[in-house]
Amino acid sequence: MRKMIILLCGVMTATTLLAHTGVQNPAVMARMNSMSAIAEDLKVIALMARGEEPFDAEAARAAAASIAAESAQIEALFTEPEDDPKSEAKPSIWENFAQFSSIAAEMEAIALGLSTSIQTSEDIRPALASLGQSCRTCHEAFRE
Ligand code: HEC
Repeated sequence: MRKMIILLCGVMTATTLLAHTGVQNPAVMARMNSMSAIAEDLKVIALMARGEEPFDAEAARAAAASIAAESAQIEALFTEPEDDPKSEAKPSIWENFAQFSSIAAEMEAIALGLSTSIQTSEDIRPALASLGQSCRTCHEAFRE
């Protein structure tokens, strides 16, 4: 599970919690909280993909729906070039904001699709792969 999350997104809940300590800018805190919520939802899907939790179509679709809703907020949460010593956001976000937003919109579309399309346990690995690819694409470009 940990390995998979690190592999896919370079994130782990423990480090996420640590990273939040000492954040002073509430706008940065808000976008970090949103990312943490996305990671929690992805974890639901990742645990099923690894067989660590039994497949539950409804729970998987709900997690995808939640990722879609969170994704819809990313553009607004990042519009202002807010900074904080704890932030891992790269300044290039605001030089390439259209690209940044389009990755968020793409993740929203993928997650929205999955929120209705996940039916059987066969669907869970591809779901994880496509969502994980979105995390990776954005983090590689825009996160330190
Ligand atoms: C459109 C770009 C984008 C997408 C898509 C994206 N992220 Fe992020 N993510 C960021 C940026 C930028 C940061 C750094 C924010 C900061 O530190 O100010 C971040 C930070 C994080 C963090 C750390 C939050 C913290 O507390 O410091 C986690 C966890 C995370 N992302 C998980 C995910 C997961 C899981 C996905 C995919 C399901 C994902 N992200 C998709 C841009 C994105």
